[in-house]
Amino acid sequence: MLFTSQNSLPEIWATLSHELHRGALDAKHPFRYVTLATNGEDAPEQRMVVLRKMDEELNFYFFTDSRTAKVTQIQENSNAECLVYHPGKRTQIRVKGRLHIHHQDELSQEMWKRVQGDAQKAYNSTLSPGTEIADPDLAYDWPAELDDRFFAVLQFIPETVEALQLNGLTHVRVSFSKSGADWNGKWLVP
Ligand SMILES: Cc1cc2nc3c(=O)[nH]c(=O)nc-3n(C[C@H](O)[C@H](O)[C@H](O)COP(=O)(O)O)c2cc1C
Repeated sequence: MLFTSQNSLPEIWATLSHELHRGALDAKHPFRYVTLATNGEDAPEQRMVVLRKMDEELNFYFFTDSRTAKVTQIQENSNAECLVYHPGKRTQIRVKGRLHIHHQDELSQEMWKRVQGDAQKAYNSTLSPGTEIADPDLAYDWPAELDDRFFAVLQFIPETVEALQLNGLTHVRVSFSKSGADWNGKWLVP
């Protein structure tokens, strides 16, 4: 368990915040992989992304290719939801917020420095991600010079954080909303 109903809401908040930060720092932590949901044309669309960084304000940072469908969707509607689950602690965290795309700006250029060697190929395919191909080998083609022209950083700015921890008959469900610099918590019926 990450927390119990005996903990105060500020204590639970501190635990949730700590664990989310660990997801960005520890490649083996279950929160390293986030299900990111955006708004497709007529239905939600979800995909896994790697949590690359988490800052003091609990903004999440993901790396992507600016040509992906999610980027187009975010340009249309920046509302999004992030979902993580910790199997060992039986805790689900759902975070609602907005996504901001950083492309060819100071932040994306700074983050690009962290992408070294062959890892740069993930953002440099000759054909755009999602393009239909007649032969799978056509996907493995990159220009001789790799660069950051398609590299984008998604900054997810959280607005509400809801956690559910399963525990037999005593599940615990809490919700926190951002108010200025503070996060106000409340208990919910699981
Ligand atoms: C474990 C895992 C981690 C992934 N991490 C990322 C990532 O950090 N960024 C990313 O753009 N896509 C990542 N992907 C691929 C996405 O899930 C998705 O297939 C791709 O980004 C295209 O999504 P879209 O067409 O909805 O934009 C990952 C996939 C898996 C299975």
